[in-house]
Amino acid sequence: MKRVLYFSTAHADITETEVNGIVSAAKAKNTARNVTGALAYNGRNFCQLIEGEAETVDALLTTIAQDARHSGFKVMDEKPITARAFPDWSMHRVNDLEFQVLIDAMKT
Ligand SMILES: Cc1cc2nc3c(=O)[nH]c(=O)nc-3n(C[C@H](O)[C@H](O)[C@H](O)COP(=O)(O)O)c2cc1C
Repeated sequence: MKRVLYFSTAHADITETEVNGIVSAAKAKNTARNVTGALAYNGRNFCQLIEGEAETVDALLTTIAQDARHSGFKVMDEKPITARAFPDWSMHRVNDLEFQVLIDAMKT
């Protein structure tokens, strides 16, 4: 398995409702793919941690990177893992200043 952390900048017109929609759609799709992680949004930037089988994660990140709802997609860190940081979250929204929760989870 692998774990990846990326940052991006949300499209200027994105709404809270749309962000919540991204998370709820991601929950269903990630469950089907056995992907887990968390998404932080501070009103301008996204920070997302994604973990799962390497090929699955890489394919998903290729899709996410091309999503018009954000830009400036930049992988900050990635590493092979044997255990998940967020085994219970197919995708979980964390707020504002909790970006640090995701950054710390990369160290585990
Ligand atoms: C910030 C952000 C995070 C996203 N995270 C996920 C995710 O964790 N899982 C997922 O399936 N799609 C995620 N998406 C949506 C994908 O970019 C894409 O719209 C979706 O996977 C397309 O699915 P479909 O081809 O089945 O319509 C995210 C989009 C954005 C903008």
